[in-house]
Amino acid sequence: MVNKKKPRLRSSEWFGREDIYGFIYRSWTKNRGVPQDQFDGRPVIGICNTWSELTPCNTHFRVLAEHVRNGVLEAGGFPLEFPVTSLGETLMRPTAMLYRNLASMDVEESIRANPIDGVVLLMGCDKTTPSLIMGAASVDLPTIGVSGGPMLSGKYRGHDIGSGTNVWSMSEELRAGQITLEEFHEAESCMHRSHGHCMTMGTASTMASMVEALGLGMPGNAAIPAVDARRNVLARQAGRRIVDLVKERVPLSALLTRPAFENAIRVNAAIGGSTNAVIHLIAIAGRLGVKLSLDDWDALGKGVHTLVNLMPNGKYLMEDFYYAGGLPVIIRELGNRAMLNKSALTANGKTIWENNKRAPCWNTDVIMPFEKPFKRNTGIAVLRGNLCPNGAIIKPSAATPKLMKHKGRAVVFENIEDFHRRIDDPKLDIDESCVMVLKNCGPKGYPGMAEVGNMPLPPKVLKRGITDMVRISDARMSGTAYGTVVLHAAPEAAAGGPLALVKNGDLIELDVAKRRLHLHVPEAELARRRKRWKAPKPAMRRGYWKLYIDHVLQADRGADLDFLVGRTGPLVPRDNH
Ligand code: FES
Repeated sequence: MVNKKKPRLRSSEWFGREDIYGFIYRSWTKNRGVPQDQFDGRPVIGICNTWSELTPCNTHFRVLAEHVRNGVLEAGGFPLEFPVTSLGETLMRPTAMLYRNLASMDVEESIRANPIDGVVLLMGCDKTTPSLIMGAASVDLPTIGVSGGPMLSGKYRGHDIGSGTNVWSMSEELRAGQITLEEFHEAESCMHRSHGHCMTMGTASTMASMVEALGLGMPGNAAIPAVDARRNVLARQAGRRIVDLVKERVPLSALLTRPAFENAIRVNAAIGGSTNAVIHLIAIAGRLGVKLSLDDWDALGKGVHTLVNLMPNGKYLMEDFYYAGGLPVIIRELGNRAMLNKSALTANGKTIWENNKRAPCWNTDVIMPFEKPFKRNTGIAVLRGNLCPNGAIIKPSAATPKLMKHKGRAVVFENIEDFHRRIDDPKLDIDESCVMVLKNCGPKGYPGMAEVGNMPLPPKVLKRGITDMVRISDARMSGTAYGTVVLHAAPEAAAGGPLALVKNGDLIELDVAKRRLHLHVPEAELARRRKRWKAPKPAMRRGYWKLYIDHVLQADRGADLDFLVGRTGPLVPRDNH
């Protein structure tokens, strides 16, 4: 008979010891009523919680954590919940993205330093998802992601309004004098009326979809509304399943493989997902040693159509998406067109194809079939040229088709303060044929690479009914935003990229079909300007800001800190005594 010796778990290094240290590790843990039998070698599951009242999208996470805990207990595990830095998109200044890498370090070190065998990540608001996955990836224990789910649809005066998307449109209407301040305030109360994250296909919904497409989440993770009981069921199932993943010894890296990232990129194209996913997925892959580049985004997104009619590109919201069948329908459509690595393993132990091949669609106005898509060929396009030698991106599904090939005179804003100072000035020399250029909003320049790339248009253009212009920057854009907006130009202006050299009146040519972004200025003149260029003074030279500015990589490399890239694994730190 084979001697099937129970494999020793990582947590046994703490709780399995019969010496003074074992006494200390167990005794203090018992202080809230934990019985001795919980230390019998069962899997210890960390529930990594980003609950915070400063992160309004995650304020239901105490309840969600209870459901995970119940699932862990039902499966014979020992749950231990712990808090980590929570990044609230709406309140944090200068931008939550500045702290994504810091939060990921908190997650990594919290997991690594403690007696944890497997972890469930509770995430919702935009940056809470990548920060938790990046941190967990650096430790590479068995891991399941549970997203908090989108809010219910916003309801205003008889019609739906969506997070972010209608904030942009209504603030433009207010600036153009088309709505009153009273209506604006009323809309504020109508837009966010339940727990959950933004309910458009913005960055939070995109990243929840990425969690499902990567196989890191349970089927249905992307779209079940936050307040729907089925979200709690999903959390409970994740709690049960993580115990099995520990017993089966399936680390995160067994799920987050190159084929899984390829699936996620194609799913992003099919949902018209946020441009922020480009940066986050490259950063996550970097933590696992999986090669993923901007060129992969362009190549894999080619030929993929947007299938969902969701804001900010369309009219419906995440609640409608779930009732129509949700992400499984998208995955099934891609699988039927040889656009899916079907054998990619997922958290529930099945392949992505086993999970989704029979997914029914209940509303083809919300999720359209591949033959009759919502928009054609809408994968993220990666632009190259003398203005962005290391690349820039544009989201075709959010852009105005006729502006995708455009040549215009540059109107340059040196930084975001310069933009705010001048944009409402009636004397600003600008019309809709111009190309708006915003500098010094990249990872180092802002710092944190703010979501300001979709600069509001000047009032004098808006008043003529114009709603879109070509805009170029080294910044990011909110996933809920739209427009013909070129983002993430690399290298950024503050790092001496060519964007820093653009002057008012220069001609700029955008040709998305040819993947080209060109500054029509002779090389000799650019060389002269480069000689005179001075790097802007950093915003702060102390603490985490200094660490970040000194070590952040450019957007095309995921804007991670250089010393965090690469595979590490679940080391057990030495004793603390
Ligand atoms: Fe949290 Fe949009 S502000 S997801």
